[in-house]
Amino acid sequence: MKLIKAKDYEDLSKLAATYFIKKIQYSPAMTIGLATGSTPEGMYRYLVKDYKENHTSYRNITTFNLDEYIGLDGSNNNSYRFFMNNHLFNHIDIEKSNVHIPCGTSKDSLAECATYDQLIKEHGGIDLQLLGIGGNGHIGFNEPGSSFQSRTRIVELTDKTRRDNARFFNNPEEVPTEAITMGMGTILESKEILMLISGEGKREAARMLLSGNVNEDFPASALHKHANAIVIADEAALTDVPADLLKAYL
Ligand code: PGA
Repeated sequence: MKLIKAKDYEDLSKLAATYFIKKIQYSPAMTIGLATGSTPEGMYRYLVKDYKENHTSYRNITTFNLDEYIGLDGSNNNSYRFFMNNHLFNHIDIEKSNVHIPCGTSKDSLAECATYDQLIKEHGGIDLQLLGIGGNGHIGFNEPGSSFQSRTRIVELTDKTRRDNARFFNNPEEVPTEAITMGMGTILESKEILMLISGEGKREAARMLLSGNVNEDFPASALHKHANAIVIADEAALTDVPADLLKAYL
């Protein structure tokens, strides 16, 4: 695992966007995995800016998002489909038919999960997967204890994750209790992974990740098993990581 240090959130967002743009320009028909949450918002802002200024095209790009709440459809402004349309897809030339996000209102969620993994396979796998990290180390909605072999599936959200995400909802009670998430095994099959870690709230998560211990109780630690994982973290997130440990990753 390689670590790139960013000065602050803007710097991290710019670095991540530049990384994606270069890859997309080099491989304009690649398959990318995308994430929601506060962390990637800045990167998406830079992708949209670049699209407007430099016309980097997404016409032949296929995307797969990590997760979706069960019970929310795309018109609900807390659904991850709404988030992605709002922050990225409505502002670039991507074909909506090439966009994949698990359907949170499917009548058969189990079949939805199996189909999602199958579709990723049919597209030759994910070339570059973007990840955030939860305060508890979750990736996607793979909460602590998720098997590293797990596939796309229905999961129950932990109280911590529901509390963390309550800021987006009118009322904490409205945060769904279940979601569909790409599995750990599915994520780890991506050819390349780019994780973003920003801000004081992620200090403990960054410290745990960079400690190097690999454990299913801290899902993000699976990145140590991946041959091609890059973490971009800002100074605020790295405050509690001992300097000698940091050096080992730079
Ligand atoms: P955040 O969420 O970017 O809103 O902090 C990240 C995550 O929970 O994966």
